[in-house]
Amino acid sequence: MLPRLAKVPMIEKLTVALGDRSYPIHIGPGALQDVRFTAVAKGKSVVIITDDHVAPRWLPAVRSALQSSARMVREIILPSGEASKSIEHLSALWDQLLTWQCDRKTLLVALGGGVIGDLVGFAAATYQRGIPFVQVPTTLLAQVDSSVGGKTAINHPKGKNMIGAFYQPIAVFSDTNTLNTLPDREFKSGLAEVIKHGLIIDVQEVATLEQDLPRILAREPAALTRMIVKACTIKADIVAQDEREVGVRAWLNLGHTFGHAIEVGLGYGVWLHGEAVAAGCCVAATLSHLRGDLSVAEVARISTLFAAAGLPTKAPRLGGVPQYMELMAHDKKADAGAIHYVLLKALGKATVSTTDDAHVAQALEAHFA
Ligand code: NAD
Ligand code: GLY
Repeated sequence: MLPRLAKVPMIEKLTVALGDRSYPIHIGPGALQDVRFTAVAKGKSVVIITDDHVAPRWLPAVRSALQSSARMVREIILPSGEASKSIEHLSALWDQLLTWQCDRKTLLVALGGGVIGDLVGFAAATYQRGIPFVQVPTTLLAQVDSSVGGKTAINHPKGKNMIGAFYQPIAVFSDTNTLNTLPDREFKSGLAEVIKHGLIIDVQEVATLEQDLPRILAREPAALTRMIVKACTIKADIVAQDEREVGVRAWLNLGHTFGHAIEVGLGYGVWLHGEAVAAGCCVAATLSHLRGDLSVAEVARISTLFAAAGLPTKAPRLGGVPQYMELMAHDKKADAGAIHYVLLKALGKATVSTTDDAHVAQALEAHFA
């Protein structure tokens, strides 16, 4: 009888090229079990930080992967939700790390969505002037966006993500199996960022997403891996060119100026981030058309893709255009009083520009639900 071959999961590996701070992203079904995962932690004292939705589902697998090689594995479980990105929870994390006498060799493992990734990344950036951390993203949004690129932050009562640091992880492990337990609405919210990545830089990817959407929505492993690899490739290239967002990294904010206004105007959590970004991208597309760039057909193509992904293409009216203008002026992307919009010169070609308020008003009016 032939020896039974061990089933080797198909894990793709990319690199975020940042010189001596370069790091790998492992993507695919079973990436959690990847032997390379344990190599990162070898001989170290490890603290896994996760939330109470993710812990019952994915903590046992991560714990056992780490226990095979780490010196000591400890765990902290926080409440799920945006409220955990607070100074209170960060301070409690610092307290616990100090109580356990964690030193600068301790490895933090961020197991969860963007909330856990942002919080743990900032804890790693600040504890004893910086300790290593890895990202194990478990939402689609985190796998295609927040786990890559080193933006870490907590919220301040005066604004979201207002206190933070650029601080890169030493590795990212995106296990597509973790998406099997993700609620549908969260999954679709992550798709907004995937579509956005295509719109800003890669029209071919937009076409591929249009074709592949049924398999993606059915969460077929191969379709998910392909899509996440592509989205991370786009993001990694942009981050490698412009880590601190002085240039092209701002393109990743397509739809976010309008999207943040929606999130704040409705109150955080009423719409998920990706839902607001989807509607925001549709407004930005119309604005691009009014400036003479996109055609009507291209604007319709963008809306159709977001709608097919189960995402909103219309924005809530809130207090009308004046409230949007007010909220957008307070957004951190406003610079010296002027709002800088990410717009599309063409499908797959982003640009950043100030623009005529009348056009902005017209684009918003066209999109009110
Ligand atoms: P999240 O972390 O709150 O996760 C969404 C929900 O899904 C939570 O209830 C969580 O407990 C649950 N969850 C996570 N993984 C799960 C799984 N596999 N199965 C079942 N439930 C699961 O939200 P998010 O959308 O991942 O991230 C949003 C955050 O990311 C925001 O705070 C935003 O500011 C931040 N963000 C950061 C960046 C960046 O570049 N750093 C980029 C985009 C967004
Ligand atoms: N999510 C936008 C960025 O990482 O720059």
